[in-house]
Formats: sequence, C-alpha cells, structure tokens
Amino acid sequence: MSERILVCTAWPYVNGSLHVGHLAGVYVPADTFARFQRLRGNDVLMVSGSDEHGTPIILRADQEGVSPKEIGDKYHAEFLGYWRDLGISYDLYTRTGTETHSRVVQAEFTDLLEKEYLFEASVDQFYDETAGRFLQDRYIEGTCPHCGYDRARGDQCDNCGHLLDPDQLIEPRSKLTGGRPVPRSTTHLFFDLRKLNDRLVEWVRPMTHWRPNVYRFTLNFLEGGLQPRAVTRDLDWGVPVPVAGYEDKRVYVWIEAVTGYLSASVEWAERQGRADAWEPWWKDPQARQYYFIGKDNIPFHTVIWPAILMARGDTILPYDVPANEYMNFGGAKASKSANIGTTVPDLLAAFDPDPIRYYLTANAPESADTDFSADDLIRRNNDELVATWGNLVHRTLTFVQRYFDGRVPGDGATDPVVARQIDDTFALVTARLEAVRLKETVRDVMALAHFGNRYFDEKAPWRQVKEDQAEAGRTVGTLLNLLNALKVLFAPFLPFSSARLHELLGYQHQLEEDGWAWTPVPIGQSLPKPTPLFTKIETS
Ligand code: MF3
Ligand code: ZN
Repeated sequence: MSERILVCTAWPYVNGSLHVGHLAGVYVPADTFARFQRLRGNDVLMVSGSDEHGTPIILRADQEGVSPKEIGDKYHAEFLGYWRDLGISYDLYTRTGTETHSRVVQAEFTDLLEKEYLFEASVDQFYDETAGRFLQDRYIEGTCPHCGYDRARGDQCDNCGHLLDPDQLIEPRSKLTGGRPVPRSTTHLFFDLRKLNDRLVEWVRPMTHWRPNVYRFTLNFLEGGLQPRAVTRDLDWGVPVPVAGYEDKRVYVWIEAVTGYLSASVEWAERQGRADAWEPWWKDPQARQYYFIGKDNIPFHTVIWPAILMARGDTILPYDVPANEYMNFGGAKASKSANIGTTVPDLLAAFDPDPIRYYLTANAPESADTDFSADDLIRRNNDELVATWGNLVHRTLTFVQRYFDGRVPGDGATDPVVARQIDDTFALVTARLEAVRLKETVRDVMALAHFGNRYFDEKAPWRQVKEDQAEAGRTVGTLLNLLNALKVLFAPFLPFSSARLHELLGYQHQLEEDGWAWTPVPIGQSLPKPTPLFTKIETS
C-alpha cells in the first residue's frame, strides 16, 4: 500500500545567492529522498519556499538601496532557476509573502493565543541609539554564557548551538554600529514553551531512528528546560500580528517561517483546486513527515515547530529531521581549478547537474563537516561517472549497435550471478534510502557499476561474438538488464542521466512509470544510436 510522505526543506532567506553548502546539506538530499519515495510508489508531497521576512532581508535591502520586496523578487526568481536546473522536484516552491501564508500564520497565532499558550509581557529590549532602532536578536553579538565563544549572536551561539536571548550575552554589542545597545521597554507576546516541555520529551524519547546528533541535541535541549520565547518583534516587515495594539509589530520570523511547511501544503492544495488535499500529509497518523535542514536549524524543527503543532493539536508531528552538518568552502581547496566559485550560479555555469548532485552526495556532510573541492568534483566526474558508470553504458550500447544491429539480443534471461548482485544491491539500497543514508548508498550503486565492468571484461563478448554468437548475445542481454537496473538505482541521485539512459534503452514512456524495480529489456527492442551519458572535464 502506498504511504504518504511529506518532504520539507528549510526555507532559504532571500538575502543572497545560495551556495554549495545549502545544496549539499539540504536540497540535494531532500530531492534524492523524494525521488526514491516516488519511485517506490509512495504518495510524496514536497514543499518549501523562500523566506522573505526577517532582519537579514531588511538589511540586505538597505545595503542595495531597494525595498525588501524587491530583494525577495530577485532571489526568489533566482532560486526557482536553481531547482529547475538541478532537478529539485518540488510539488510547490512558494514564498512567505503570499496571502495564503499570512492567513495560515495569523490563524495559527490566534489559535495559540486563544488556547493560552501565548502571554504578554513587557521587556527591556536592546535599542541601538545611533541607528535609531530596536535590534533584532541576531544583530546583537557578544560572549556566549554557555561556552564563552565571543561572537555568539543574540538568538543563538554558533559555537555550542544553544538558543539564546540577547540579554544573556556577556558584553553585548550592536552589529549595525558596533556600539553598546541600551535596553528600552517594549511589549511582546511570548510562547510559553514550559507548558509543552514534558510532552515534548515524551514525544522525542522513542525517536531512536533520528540521526544520533539530532536526537542527543534535542533531548539535551529539552532536558535543560524550555523558556518562554517572544513570538513578536518590533519590525515593519513580515506577517502582521493579528492582535489589537500590535499594529507596529510583526510575527517573529522563526515561528512564521516554520509554519510555511503547512501554508505551502495548503497553497499546493488550493492550486490543485481541492482545498483540503493537503490534509492527508498533516492529519493521517500513518503519514510521515521529513524535514531536511542544516544543523543550525535543529531546535526550530525538533522543538519549536513540534511545540507549535502540539499546541494546535490538529496535526501529526514530524517523523524525522535528517539534519546535516556543513559542507565548508572557505579554504584554498574550494577552487584551485579554473576559478570555479562556490555559489549555486557559479556551479551551474561550470558543471552539469548530475555531476554536481553526484559529488555532493558522495561527499555529503551527513555525520561530519566536509570541504567542497572543485578538483574532487572533477575527479569524481572523470573517474566514477565517466570512466566507470558512463563507460559501462557506452561500451555495452556501442557493442549492441556494432554486433547486434542495435537490437536487444539474448534470451531475456539474466546471468544468475549478475541477477543476484542486482537483487542484493536493491535490498541494501532500499533499506539505506529508507533510513536517509544517502552517502553510503551512492557508493553501493557505483560498486554495482564497477562489478558490471568486471563482468564485461571477464566475459569478453568481443571474443565470444567470434566463437559463439548466442553466448555473446546472452552476455550482452545480461549487461543490458544490468544497465536497466542501474538506471533505476541511480535515478534518485542522477535523474537527468537516468532519464537519458532510459531513452537509450529504447523506451518511450517516463522512467518513473516503471517504479522501483528492475526488469529485463525486451528481446528485440530497438536501441537508438548512443551518445555518452557524461562528459570528461579537462583541467588545463
Ligand atoms: N530562513 C531561515 C534560515 O535560512 C529559516 C529556514 S527553516 C524554516 O535559517 F523552517 F524556518 F523555514
Ligand atoms: Zn556557546
């Protein structure tokens, strides 16, 4: 029976081009997982959007001398181009500036208020007298009270990961002007997370399928005791607070952005013309929700968002939050060759999408940080995609043209030795992809391509064809069936080249229609003239 799978990705801020780290940590793994689940026949809904609100966008707009809306328009359009070019297969990639998003956020806010999860309090908030404005938490820097890191932000310490309030910082300073911010009184609404602390712990404890770092971090965090968190801000850019007296304030961007997962699902349903079509992914207890994020976003997805959902009480809770570590790209290593930059537009200008996806998966920061290296990307392209997988495809397909007139030979059978390898790989890959372990898996699939090349060498069909045409036919038939299996196994990782190989194997319909299984290529099927799947990258 098909299962319902919601695939969510972090909503990127529209304050600049995305970089290779975002792709490696969030977008490529999420898409690979979504494609695998769709091939399995599951009912996948994949949503996200651009995060247009928040101080990062206001500041960027100030710098460029344009409005926050214009910055949003510019980068939202740019991001949509990335997803198209990289094959990131969202059902809906929207933005937080939509009417639907405001409506869903405001309804949720009112609901939390009515259920008494929100309370009002006056607080002193830091104000930058030189800049003449209240400072949002992340624009205050100082020393972390937990670990002593001297560049902790007012919302979070990037060194130890603790969420902070700016008044916890030792020696706070304004990131706008460098001056010492002064406290000023202001009124805000606070989400009383204390009320949900015990229930959150009970919910998290059984989640032993989470990645160990996500699980440990979250339990520690909850066991440390939750504090109320402000959910409004003194800002004029964002979703208005639906409460009288709060006209000059906006919903805190973090509470608002995570609600985008729900509002994007609602918008998707509205666009389908079936306004409640989103509900199965949010209300059916059997549905599974996966949130692909970077490690800096863990508490918002394993604590804050589940707390909001618990407080609402009308939805299921996340199933998994496969957070990744970082892919770093600062070092000299990043671009020794050919001055290749590390933003997404730079990468897309230099490489085809499948080599980018392949490299980022093979070198994914799943359990530790990794470093981006263009040289390594090129090496993997040349040695693995071109010389291993591409070579197996090309030598097999050209052999069919040359000796079998472009038609599938053999008797439809697959050499049992090869069939067993394929079956074993399918079983292994399926289990690992279910567990969102993508990095090892792409290696397992490539190992099967290696095996195929060895099989080709050992059987030496170029010799068989001179001695026993039927036997050569069985070898080549087996190899074609192996390609047909590898095409499916690689499809979640390398969607463009798998689709291309599907055509080269003589099929007219979409690869996806055949699902997550392998079948023999029909005997006698006519294959078009092959062209190489991958291109060697020359480094001068
Ligand atoms: N825009 C924020 C960031 O890039 C939040 C992303 S995740 C979301 O860190 F769930 F809040 F959208
Ligand atoms: Zn710290």
